[in-house]
Amino acid sequence: MSFNFNDDNLEKIELLKSKYPKVQALSLPLLWMAQYQDGFISLEAIQEIAKICETPMMEIYKVSTFYSMFNLQKLGKYHIQLCKTLSCKLCNKDDVLKSIQNELNIQVGESTSDGLFTLSQVECLGSCGTSPVMQLNETYYENLTPISIVEILKALK
Ligand code: FES
Repeated sequence: MSFNFNDDNLEKIELLKSKYPKVQALSLPLLWMAQYQDGFISLEAIQEIAKICETPMMEIYKVSTFYSMFNLQKLGKYHIQLCKTLSCKLCNKDDVLKSIQNELNIQVGESTSDGLFTLSQVECLGSCGTSPVMQLNETYYENLTPISIVEILKALK
């Protein structure tokens, strides 16, 4: 299996090359592009990015595994990222997590068998004043309760 950026992304990459002083600096935007293109970042994509950035593949891999927003495996249609940091923990995120797990019958790091949901826990989402918080794809859901989370998930099924 190989990975190639599509024509739109190849155009964007050429534009970015003219804006950055070194091609090595393109690793983050290219990781984002690969993820948006395929829904996750494959090893083949990392290999291609390493080639474009004239950087060892291991360096790109290290960057891709450092940031939790990069996904190295295929995700469900809806990626639930529940904050696990202090404010959310103090506001009962554990009860919200139990509700999600009961409703979807999956554990953290797993996807539902129909490919609809993937459940992750992440560090602070920067919305501590409205804890507990989850990011579902690009949307934040705040002030979650064990009941409201089930309503949200049921509406997506
Ligand atoms: S601790 Fe959860 S959003 Fe900050």
